[in-house]
Amino acid sequence: MTDEILNIVDKRTNASYDVPLFKDAIRTADLKKIKTDPDDFGVMGYDPAFLNTASCQSSITFIDGDKGILRYRGYPIEQLAEKCSFLEVAYLVLFGELPTEEQLKKFVTNITYHTMLHETTKKFLEGFRYDAHPMGMFISTVAALSTMYPESRHVHDASNRELQIYRLIGKVPTIAAYTYRHGLGFPYVYPDNDLTYTENFMSMLWKMAEPKYHPNPVMARALDILFILHADHEQNCSTNVMRSVGSSQADPFVSAAAAAAALSGPLHGGANEEVLRMLDEIGTKDRIPAYIESVKSGRGKLMGFGHRVYKNYDPRARIIKWAADQVFQVTGRNPKLEIALELERIALEDEYFIKRKLYPNVDFYSGIMYQAMGFKPEMFTVLFAIPRTVGWLAQWQEMLQDPEQKITRPRQIYTGHEQRDVAPMDRRGVVVAAG
Ligand SMILES: CC(C)(COP(=O)(O)OP(=O)(O)OC[C@H]1O[C@@H](n2cnc3c(N)ncnc32)[C@H](O)[C@@H]1OP(=O)(O)O)[C@@H](O)C(=O)NCCC(=O)NCCS
Repeated sequence: MTDEILNIVDKRTNASYDVPLFKDAIRTADLKKIKTDPDDFGVMGYDPAFLNTASCQSSITFIDGDKGILRYRGYPIEQLAEKCSFLEVAYLVLFGELPTEEQLKKFVTNITYHTMLHETTKKFLEGFRYDAHPMGMFISTVAALSTMYPESRHVHDASNRELQIYRLIGKVPTIAAYTYRHGLGFPYVYPDNDLTYTENFMSMLWKMAEPKYHPNPVMARALDILFILHADHEQNCSTNVMRSVGSSQADPFVSAAAAAAALSGPLHGGANEEVLRMLDEIGTKDRIPAYIESVKSGRGKLMGFGHRVYKNYDPRARIIKWAADQVFQVTGRNPKLEIALELERIALEDEYFIKRKLYPNVDFYSGIMYQAMGFKPEMFTVLFAIPRTVGWLAQWQEMLQDPEQKITRPRQIYTGHEQRDVAPMDRRGVVVAAG
């Protein structure tokens, strides 16, 4: 059909090319046929940071940033957060459908079976300095799992892949909790397999001398919801790294470590820390209008506001706000909340923010909630990495099963020198006059 064909006229040659449209996209490889002569390489796409390039087809997560919609496998995030546990959602993200009772039981058993770390991995963690950053410890330890499970490199063996997926999802909370306790100088707490995924994580974080840890159900549910909200977010920076490293058929542990490294950057997983810093800087409610004026005049950004994709209220921010309220009922209100609420109210009524479609994003309230739970800002990204491991693995598996995917290898536009000859040492640095 003509309306599914893009017609390109090359004004250099006056040649006309029909480029098929495919799901509102063109395959940029089709541009290669646009040439000035048979030896010409053909036209390439140039898109640093993939602003308008789809790197894959995926059926996992759908985002409509203008409408503020986020769905996993077609299910709205609001319904999943309200009605499901994190492991139910993990099953959905990984396998495409919500589990039956039987399937969930088996899945939970499989994950629970793999929560322990080998003692040598525990010793590996002990080797970090007392003040090591938890995210550096997390990344290194996830990579180190590759040495424990060398068979994980058989990435095209489906049952092997499934086993490694269970291992990694089972072990990331244990690694995360160990990094937390290491910083405090407390002994490590072994997993308690009577508890749910989130409750066990809380036990490994906070159990002291008591024989059995009894997690507060309100806190456990709030953390579970937070995990659901962070499970996947389509082709973000760390997911793109997971797919890219995995495309070389590296094993899932080193691929996930690379993805976690991408997450550790302040432009990706670290924005909620910045929100806390900003709220500290503002200090009191009466200083908010002056702060907003300074942002509008170009001095810094309102942290936790704005998003590359969402040009509406980030649906996760709304749910986090609700979950934070639940947590505050247990911990008492974080005094920063008052400032955050007032900041949001004033910003959402301000022409500057309305015009630019700047709304609170997922990071605006999550840091305040984590802080009320007793976490230091250094732990925030590790808390993000636990649930996102599910998304990374689902996307990795989808990539490996996609017949169109090959090793990732972008093109470049070379801007360096033409060929030149190596000068002897005593002639280097001499500027040769042109002409
Ligand atoms: C998330 C973010 C990087 C998205 O950036 P982006 O899609 O490239 O958007 P742009 O930088 O093009 O912003 C568009 C306009 O809004 C302004 N803007 C964007 N975010 C802003 C913020 N948080 N505070 C004030 N102004 C902001 C920009 O200055 C720009 O204004 P201009 O048109 O007058 O130049 C950006 O909104 C930001 O830095 N937010 C704060 C950090 C944050 O919360 N990150 C977490 C993301 S989950």
